[in-house]
Amino acid sequence: MVNSRPHVILSAAMSLDGKIATRIGDSKLSSRKDLLRVDKLRANVDAILVGKRTMIHDDPLLTVKYVTGKNPTRIILDSKGSIKPTSRIVKTCKIIPTIIAVSEKINQKNIVNLKKYGLEVIKCGKDKVDLKELLYILRKKKIKNLLVEGGGLTNWSFIKNGLVDEIIITITPHVIGGTRAVSLFQGEGFDKISKSPVLKLKKIYKMKNEITLHYTI
Ligand SMILES: NC(=O)c1ccc[n+]([C@@H]2O[C@H](COP(=O)([O-])OP(=O)(O)OC[C@H]3O[C@@H](n4cnc5c(N)ncnc54)[C@H](OP(=O)(O)O)[C@@H]3O)[C@@H](O)[C@H]2O)c1
Repeated sequence: MVNSRPHVILSAAMSLDGKIATRIGDSKLSSRKDLLRVDKLRANVDAILVGKRTMIHDDPLLTVKYVTGKNPTRIILDSKGSIKPTSRIVKTCKIIPTIIAVSEKINQKNIVNLKKYGLEVIKCGKDKVDLKELLYILRKKKIKNLLVEGGGLTNWSFIKNGLVDEIIITITPHVIGGTRAVSLFQGEGFDKISKSPVLKLKKIYKMKNEITLHYTI
């Protein structure tokens, strides 16, 4: 059972008040040092995963940029397979392996398009992507460790389903505020503290005005 899914590390940079993006989706919270931390992590995992809304807001490449290391396989949660061919992920998918995880909500036309762009498609789940099933399939594909880089809804789905092994968070010296800003964990949240996971603090790293907290489950 232990090896039936990859080891999952959740990583993010958040404001002092626990937000990972503003209400309009601006998420440039990290200092250069923190971006280096993320890159080192990326260079040491087999795959990296984000949700569709992060794709839309950030148009990320999800590559290793500041250290030498192999680019991990990129995985996007996108139930309907609606990723745009103009996105940087699609434009680079012939050189960096990229998986679009979709659900039964996808139509045949989108499946054909995704494959035409050069993306691998994994279908699991009726409405949203079924993460337990997805992780099982990824492990079978020799993905032993997975870095989850948000956003908030994705983070929530992973923690709610008990699929997180480590959390590495940088607290940045920004205050964002606002009920519509994106929190580290979105979704409905736990109703009782007794139901929420209790983590163990493994390490603290202090940078100039930031702290990185490393927790394990
Ligand atoms: N500061 C940081 O470290 C950091 C890191 C990453 C992202 N961000 C920010 O976070 C924001 C986006 O976060 P978000 O919470 O709005 O969205 P998100 O987590 O990026 O994407 C959520 C979307 O993924 C799709 N999805 C499919 N299956 C899912 C599942 N099982 N669980 C969760 N999502 C699933 C859904 O769209 P479909 O139903 O259409 O498939 C869902 O709406 C952006 O502004 C981005 O900049 C910040």
